[in-house]
Amino acid sequence: MKYFIGNWKMFGVPRSISILNKINLFISKDRNRKKYRVIVTPPYTLLETFSKKFKNKKIFIGSQNCYQKDHYSSNTAAISPYMIKKVGAKLTLIGHSDNRAEGDTDEIIKNKVIFALKNNLKIVFCIGENKKQKKNKQTLSVLKNQLTKVLEKKFKTNNLIVAYEPIWSIGTGKIPNQDELLITTLHIKKTLKNIFGKKTPPVIYGGSVDGGNVQKFKKIKEIDGFLIGGASKDSKKFIDIIKNYYR
Ligand code: 13P
Repeated sequence: MKYFIGNWKMFGVPRSISILNKINLFISKDRNRKKYRVIVTPPYTLLETFSKKFKNKKIFIGSQNCYQKDHYSSNTAAISPYMIKKVGAKLTLIGHSDNRAEGDTDEIIKNKVIFALKNNLKIVFCIGENKKQKKNKQTLSVLKNQLTKVLEKKFKTNNLIVAYEPIWSIGTGKIPNQDELLITTLHIKKTLKNIFGKKTPPVIYGGSVDGGNVQKFKKIKEIDGFLIGGASKDSKKFIDIIKNYYR
C-alpha cells in the first residue's frame, strides 16, 4: 500500500472542499485505486465538516497536529487528540518541522504520540534534518535520534507512518539525490527495525514532491508514499502526482 498525504498547512476555507471532491472523483475512477490511500490534513477549522463529508469516501481526513494532553485541559487554543478523534478525523501529523521550529521538543512530541495512539488516531510522525546538519554530515545521526527519542517498541506499528521530510527540501524545489535518499531511507528502516523488531511502519518522503519529480522517487522501492505540501492545494497538481507515479 502506498500513501499520498496532502498537508494543507495554513490553507483552506469551507468552499475549498471542491478540491477534495475533484480528487475523490479521480480516485473513484482510477484503475490503480486499490494500490494506494489518499489522506488530506486540512486546518482544524475544517476537520469536522470534511471528516463528515468524506466519511464513506476515498479520502481520509486527518489533523496537522494535536496538543500534548489527552482529553480536556485549561490550555487556551489547544486541541487534544480526543477532540480530533471525536469530530471524525482518522489521523494526525506529529512532529512536523514547522511545529518543531515553534518549540515542539522530543518530549512534547512523545506525549502527543502517546495520547494520539491512546485515542486511536493513526499517526504520521515527521522527522528530518536541516540544511546545516546535512552540510555537517549529521543527517543519519539526527534522524536516528529523532526516532529513538520518541518511538517505543510498545507502540502499535499498524497505527504509525514515519515521514522523512528534510527541512531544506520543504517548499524549496530541492530534492535529495537518489543515492542520498536510498541511504537515508534504509537507515530509517533499519532504525525502526531495531526499535520494533519485524513489523516496521511504512516510511514516506516529503519535500517538494510534484508531478514532475515523483517518478524519480518511484525508483526507490523502499519509499512507501509521500507527504505533499504545496502541490496538495491544487486538485490537478495532486492528481498528477498519483497519475505520474503509476504511469
Ligand atoms: P512541500 O511539498 O510544499 O515542499 O511541503 C512538504 C511538507 O512540509 C509537507 O508536510
